[in-house]
Amino acid sequence: VSPDFTVQSTSPNAAAGLHVAVIMDGNGRWAARRGLPRPAGHRAGARAVRAIVEAAPSLGISTLTLYALSSDNFQRPAAEVSALMRLFAEYLGRESDALAEQGVRFRAVGRRDRLPASLCRVIDRAEQTTAAGARLTLRLAVDYSARDEIRRAVAAAPSGTDPFAGWPDVDLLVRTGGEQRLSDFLLWECAYAELWFTDRLWPDVTPQDLAAAVADFRRRDRRFGRIPA
Ligand code: IPE
Ligand code: IPE
Ligand code: MG
Repeated sequence: VSPDFTVQSTSPNAAAGLHVAVIMDGNGRWAARRGLPRPAGHRAGARAVRAIVEAAPSLGISTLTLYALSSDNFQRPAAEVSALMRLFAEYLGRESDALAEQGVRFRAVGRRDRLPASLCRVIDRAEQTTAAGARLTLRLAVDYSARDEIRRAVAAAPSGTDPFAGWPDVDLLVRTGGEQRLSDFLLWECAYAELWFTDRLWPDVTPQDLAAAVADFRRRDRRFGRIPA
């Protein structure tokens, strides 16, 4: 097969650091086990994010994409969705200066047109405040659907250009909460991602869990369709 014919797949880019993507699942069950309403689980989940973000650079991670709200999550009761919107705004309002100090560049991914204007403003501000961050790129997926992103990128790309140029391949995909599925997250970018699942519910996840996932990842033999080295 001529090289022109093959889809250009990724090769490990250790020098640039890893792109780790996390499906932060299990907040609702965490709350239910404690007899608490679901938003209490989301609050606990938001608290768990800080330590994970702080630990990421020392684990060799240069891009961390966190799935916070899927487009399909809009089918949940309006009260839960709006509680989540408030929580995102609170988190970003509270953390953006600390993120900037840690050298974290924050980006939101996903649709913005269904987010409250107040949240959009906080997102814009956090993106501006942290624009110079060079240690870690933190991408928060809010109202995110991979299928929707792919459709829109293809429709918007001028012919002859790559609609996915600049979409970072995922090296390691982590899902907490016991399910083993993608739920419309990063379908293009995960073409050769290593998958790692844990039963641990997101609010209980610690940097040690992330370190275990990365250690497991480093023992794997990624072949990208080739034969073993
Ligand atoms: C993940 O936790 C957070 C969001 C989807 C917003 P869930 O809310 O899905 O928690 P479970 O899966 O019901 O436990
Ligand atoms: C995926 O979790 C979305 C987030 C974690 C933000 P869900 O809980 O919505 O996924 P399903 O419904 O179990 O597939
Ligand atoms: Mg869930």
